[in-house]
Amino acid sequence: MHRPLVVFTAALIVFAAATARAQSAPAPVPTYSKDVAPILNKHCVSCHRPGEIGPMAFESYAQTRPWARSIRSKVMRREMPPWGADNASSMKIGNDRTLSSHELDTIVAWVNGGAPEGNPADLPARPSFPTGWQLGEPDFVFEQPVAWTVKPDAQEPYLYFYEKIPFAEDRWAAGVEIRPSNFSVVHHSGVYIIDIPDGYTVKDGYLYDAAGTQVPPSVPMGKRATLADGSLLAGADKVISYVPGRGYEKHPEGYAKRIPAGKYVRWVMHYNPTGQPETDRSKLGLWWAKGPVRREVLNLQAGDPIPGSGNRGLYFANGKEVLYESDDTTGRRGKTPTIPPYVADFKMMGITPVNEDITLYALTPHMHLRGKSMKWWVTYPDGREEVILNVPNFDFNWQIQYELATPLKVPAGSKITNIAIFDNSVNNKWNPAPEKEVYWSEQSWDEMYQPTTQFSIDRQDLTRPAARGTREQQRQQQHQQQ
Ligand code: HEC
Repeated sequence: MHRPLVVFTAALIVFAAATARAQSAPAPVPTYSKDVAPILNKHCVSCHRPGEIGPMAFESYAQTRPWARSIRSKVMRREMPPWGADNASSMKIGNDRTLSSHELDTIVAWVNGGAPEGNPADLPARPSFPTGWQLGEPDFVFEQPVAWTVKPDAQEPYLYFYEKIPFAEDRWAAGVEIRPSNFSVVHHSGVYIIDIPDGYTVKDGYLYDAAGTQVPPSVPMGKRATLADGSLLAGADKVISYVPGRGYEKHPEGYAKRIPAGKYVRWVMHYNPTGQPETDRSKLGLWWAKGPVRREVLNLQAGDPIPGSGNRGLYFANGKEVLYESDDTTGRRGKTPTIPPYVADFKMMGITPVNEDITLYALTPHMHLRGKSMKWWVTYPDGREEVILNVPNFDFNWQIQYELATPLKVPAGSKITNIAIFDNSVNNKWNPAPEKEVYWSEQSWDEMYQPTTQFSIDRQDLTRPAARGTREQQRQQQHQQQ
């Protein structure tokens, strides 16, 4: 009669003991082969492999193990992988490369558990990285007109090289890509479309002034940029920029970037010495739009008016309006005050009144070494405000373009506002000279306030003859209609 009860009790005790053991036993330690290698492959190895900018490779256990503690601290502080935006916006960023909390926990548990290798049979397949152009063979290639050799340890200023756009008519690029020839030395770079001043010429990649004197390819440190030195040329419109791990853009069907006839391409190169002499000659690949182009992909800086709107730009420096004027010593925003020495919170604000429906695709905060934070928001016609990007700790070393996973429609009657803080105090560890006034120029020891978004105008339909198309397109249309 009693036996079943005894058996049952005994079973209960065994069960309870097993449960207690399971509760007190630590979760199994993740292993490199099974759990960690897939995370590193996905988030880190694109930079941390030979020939890339990561200073060490994480392609095997042997390479990774010595860095385990450093990896733990970098990921816990969210310093790696590099990413500047926080969660203030609910907007999903398509190229977000941050670790999920599960991935972060896995790395931390692995290091805390002694960073074991595990069973090499569990290793994932090696990731493969495209070795050539990301978008296939380009239709047209511009080659950086000057192959530049970077000295082993000299800090290089920005370098400018020029080239005339060789087409008789505007062309439309649906895809663009920059490829360094030497990935280890390019810190970041960009290609812009510009006008050159009357009388100036371009030869073998260099700019010459009206007197025939070569304009140096860079502005020496401490010298104020001027129109004459080529660093503040008008009409500068970015085609594409390159940062390690990212240098291409492909637009959806019907959308393209204009490569205007008669203008010039300017290469803006920022090199980082590696300890050895390094030569680079980057290339810009273009893929022409195959079908009709309906809308032009444009760049808008918060504060600039929507083109054709008749509005003027609205800029404020520390709360005071800055007049939007051309000036040949300080460039487009001629009246922007210099940032005084030791000031920790110099505030720039740009407001774009949106007078017709537009669509936003991507945001690129661009500042230099005093740049501290940048935030964009949209105020909709009903007064609702939506943060679209917040970068609380801007890092000059990571010039990241944030691509909206879903393009954002901004209706007529909205406002796009951007605020940036510049820190010229001694507390800014990147500040090269807190005792100096800071000018506005493209050199990293000067400043820039460039809150750029990529956008298109919804009304625009370049395929309809009534729209403001180029002569080439109108001709094409006439041709198709005949
Ligand atoms: C976009 C390129 C890039 C990606 C992606 C990237 N890193 Fe880095 N990493 C760098 C560069 C460049 C440095 C050196 C400069 C620095 O420390 O900021 C670096 C430095 C490090 C260091 C510091 C080494 C030292 O000197 O102590 C660690 C650790 C590290 N990365 C881990 C990671 C991990 C882990 C990931 C992925 C979760 C990752 N990185 C993703 C580019 C990258």
